[in-house]
Amino acid sequence: ATTGLNVAAKAAGKLYFGTATDNPELSDTPYVSILSETSEFGIITPGNSMKWDATEPSRGTFSFSGGDQIVSLAKKNGQMVRGHTTVWHSQLPSWVSSGNFDNATLISIMQNHVTNVISHYKGEICKYYAWDVCNEVFNDDGTWRQSVFSDTIGPAFVPLAFQAARAADPDAKLYINDYNIDGTGAKSTAMYNLVKSMKEQGIPVDGIGIQGHLIVGAVPTTIQQNIEQFTSLGVEVAFTELDIRMTLPVTDALLQQQKTDYQNVISACNAVEKCIGVTVWDYTDKHSWIPSTFPGQGAALPWDENLAKKPAYDGIVNGW
Ligand code: XIL
Repeated sequence: ATTGLNVAAKAAGKLYFGTATDNPELSDTPYVSILSETSEFGIITPGNSMKWDATEPSRGTFSFSGGDQIVSLAKKNGQMVRGHTTVWHSQLPSWVSSGNFDNATLISIMQNHVTNVISHYKGEICKYYAWDVCNEVFNDDGTWRQSVFSDTIGPAFVPLAFQAARAADPDAKLYINDYNIDGTGAKSTAMYNLVKSMKEQGIPVDGIGIQGHLIVGAVPTTIQQNIEQFTSLGVEVAFTELDIRMTLPVTDALLQQQKTDYQNVISACNAVEKCIGVTVWDYTDKHSWIPSTFPGQGAALPWDENLAKKPAYDGIVNGW
């Protein structure tokens, strides 16, 4: 029988299992070969090349070459795409983050960015695709994160961005995405309340993206409960950036715990109908963002640095 992570997710009634990738990795032939297997990955996310610094490095000058390269690969493979991400405090070019604009000007800059980026990819991807319209708008205590957008526009930047996104592509699923909203807690409550108020006001929002940057042995036990609360708002939920890191060096015990942890996350998604799919933040430890961002940690993904499957791979299969 055909096996694979996407096959397993679909057999469980989900829409996909997917992975992030990044342009520099596309010269790694053995890597691209696994990336392109639709039995493993039904959807891919560009890890960097659709972000603001890549797509609008100077005001009004758009560049889509990196994102286009990943979309072309997805099309060639018959994969879907998650667009990531239009409005985020990080990886902004300095002309945006400078704080040089007044409220009305920054609103129009943001709307223009969302409109241009999402319009560029409109109709490119058949079947299903989604955009992380806003990313990481909250602090861990549930307060609004300080950013050029929240400072200048206030919390209204979120509904304004979603309205621009819907107008740019009515067929795209529009997500709000964040980390540390896996289990219940202050940040998840803030996300719940924001999406509830957006729904009540008729602001177009289709999904909550749970990034899922987790730690081996410390996966929250309230994930299913939290997803149930999110989906009760009438939105879908997806894990958008799942990885489960460990403090190095790798040991057999840590790999076994990681397998259990992956299985538990997948089971929680599996248990809730409107949890529609899971994306890992790249599939191999060879190309993970973790070691450079969290020194001393790594080995967070289901394939190791030699592109061999780890116990975590079986954990994912078992979780569906
Ligand atoms: C990361 C990329 O993987 C890195 O290559 C880059 O240097 C920094 O950003 N949350 C997100 C992603 O929403 O966009 C981040 O991606 C990881 C954390």
